[in-house]
Amino acid sequence: MEAKNNRIVIAIDGFSSCGKSTMAKDLAKELGYIYIDTGAMYRAVTLYCMRQGILTGNGIDQELLRCKMKDISISFRLNDATGRPDTYLNGECVENEIRTMEVSNHVSPVAAIGFVREAMVRQQRVLGKDKGVVMDGRDIGTVVFPDAELKVFVTATAEVRAKRRYDELTAKGMDCNMEEILANVRERDRIDSTREISPLRKADDAIILDNSNMTIQEQKAWLMEQVRERTTN
Ligand code: DC
Repeated sequence: MEAKNNRIVIAIDGFSSCGKSTMAKDLAKELGYIYIDTGAMYRAVTLYCMRQGILTGNGIDQELLRCKMKDISISFRLNDATGRPDTYLNGECVENEIRTMEVSNHVSPVAAIGFVREAMVRQQRVLGKDKGVVMDGRDIGTVVFPDAELKVFVTATAEVRAKRRYDELTAKGMDCNMEEILANVRERDRIDSTREISPLRKADDAIILDNSNMTIQEQKAWLMEQVRERTTN
């Protein structure tokens, strides 16, 4: 992929709750790039399924979901107050609704469905076609943009990640339980890395960032150096 006007595609993949999105958002802001949270897209589809009775105690009604895919429109709009993009589902801001434990508990099986992934990947490629984008997810460097100029694979221990999610939820005033969160992190790791379609794996040309013991500032400096190396000739 040749960088246009020196703007590149930055793919950030890795396990859940690694701080990928905070890192990707800050990096995009610093570079004046667009930030796309692809996990938010799968979460929005999950919320839609919960609201429409597609996801019940018996599982997911895949045939119904397949028929409804054309009715699901996901977009992002910049929130002036936070300086970050909010996720919209059919015109409604669902940024808070998609972050609940209920959605977290159901999102992995929804994200494992082939036709859901095809629809999301198609949209993600359109969003990144002009470059100047930081996209975070699980399959960005392997499937969505296999030619991305910079691919980062982020990881941290399950305990560190669960603690981060716990802090994030309690800061928002949400009631949560550390044991439940740790179990959810482990279960999502398992489903995300063993699913048949586009499992979470490091692209061969991705560089690993283990941020278990790194500060936000150290991480940012490291990332900016990686970008510099790829945008200056
Ligand atoms: O990053 P997150 O925790 O918000 O992601 C939510 C879920 O979506 C997670 O279980 C993995 C899945 N996902 C995916 O399969 N592919 C992506 N590109 C992004 C997220």
